[in-house]
Amino acid sequence: MDTAQFITKSFKDSIEKANFSWQTPSNIALVKYWGKSNPQIPKNASISFTLNNCHTITTIKFEKKEKTSSVDFELFFEGKEKEEFKPKIADFFTRIQDYCSYIFEYKMTINSENSFPHSSGIASSASGLSAIAMCLMSLEHALNPTLTKEFINKKASFLARLGSGSASRSIEGPLVVWGTHPNIEGSSDLFGIQFPYKVHSVFENYQDAILLVDKGEKQVSSTVGHNLMHDHPYAENRFQQANENMSKMVEILQNGDIKAFVNLVESEALTLHAMMLTSTPYFVLMKPNTLEIINRIWEYRKEHDSNLCFTLDAGANVHVLYPELEKESVNQFIENQLSKYCQKNHYICDSVGYGAAQL
Ligand code: PMV
Repeated sequence: MDTAQFITKSFKDSIEKANFSWQTPSNIALVKYWGKSNPQIPKNASISFTLNNCHTITTIKFEKKEKTSSVDFELFFEGKEKEEFKPKIADFFTRIQDYCSYIFEYKMTINSENSFPHSSGIASSASGLSAIAMCLMSLEHALNPTLTKEFINKKASFLARLGSGSASRSIEGPLVVWGTHPNIEGSSDLFGIQFPYKVHSVFENYQDAILLVDKGEKQVSSTVGHNLMHDHPYAENRFQQANENMSKMVEILQNGDIKAFVNLVESEALTLHAMMLTSTPYFVLMKPNTLEIINRIWEYRKEHDSNLCFTLDAGANVHVLYPELEKESVNQFIENQLSKYCQKNHYICDSVGYGAAQL
């Protein structure tokens, strides 16, 4: 695999001091990634909607220093120093050091904040790591002004992937594919790409309401979860099914068959959970209110001939997806009938977004 393109050479220009700020989004997978091999290579291709309102804002201050053998950084989250977040970021810097050797020549002060509440059960690793990757790429661009926007996005996604697989899908939008797939031109295991075909208008400005059923820490970390797919009795069938579902999704997104979209998205969510129900050890990540919401969604869909559907991450929260055309009615349904199943009636209204933005 062509990773050599991402290794930095020495730079002509030198930068003493710089500050870069980026806002990068969270994303929600339609066909899920669950299972990987080293180094962060997905077992199947996946596709996600980029979100708009759920994002991280990160500023990195770079100050040139003597080159050292370890990475020197400070980390502040919402204004406070966060020692407990440092090991994950330190690990990320170790994974990317061969591709960004300049990080040894700077002291980095990282300031980060999320638009969504910290303990909401919404994974912040995708938006958090993509934001750091974009700040690094801004420094790299300042050191090497010949870099193109296309390469910057590609390498940012490549770097973000090494921190958290789904973070590779948090650079661009509104639909991003990660993982090599025969029916998707340009797709790669190394980085995410924008869905390369024309998308039917029914999927424009698609809505995602995130119902916060459980705001606690994730019961199963992603690392543990992905590892459960090694020696999983259904793993190989699942990877094959996911790739077949990707082929179906490629068609659906172009032909606008929204009924097929609803079926595929819900089946993907339940299959992800089925993998965890049937792994060793096994986990039930849904809560009773997750099931209540799913049943209410199914009733509503039938009664109103609606096209709303749900998807799930590796947790109890429910993402309700619906076309913009149904925004008013579904928002009312959520407020009147679903919010009671959320912790403190808390849910977040979001919609698809267009990716990272420099501030
Ligand atoms: O990026 P990770 O390692 O946190 O894995 C995320 C996996 C899911 O969110 C469950 C599915 C996906 O494709 O985003």
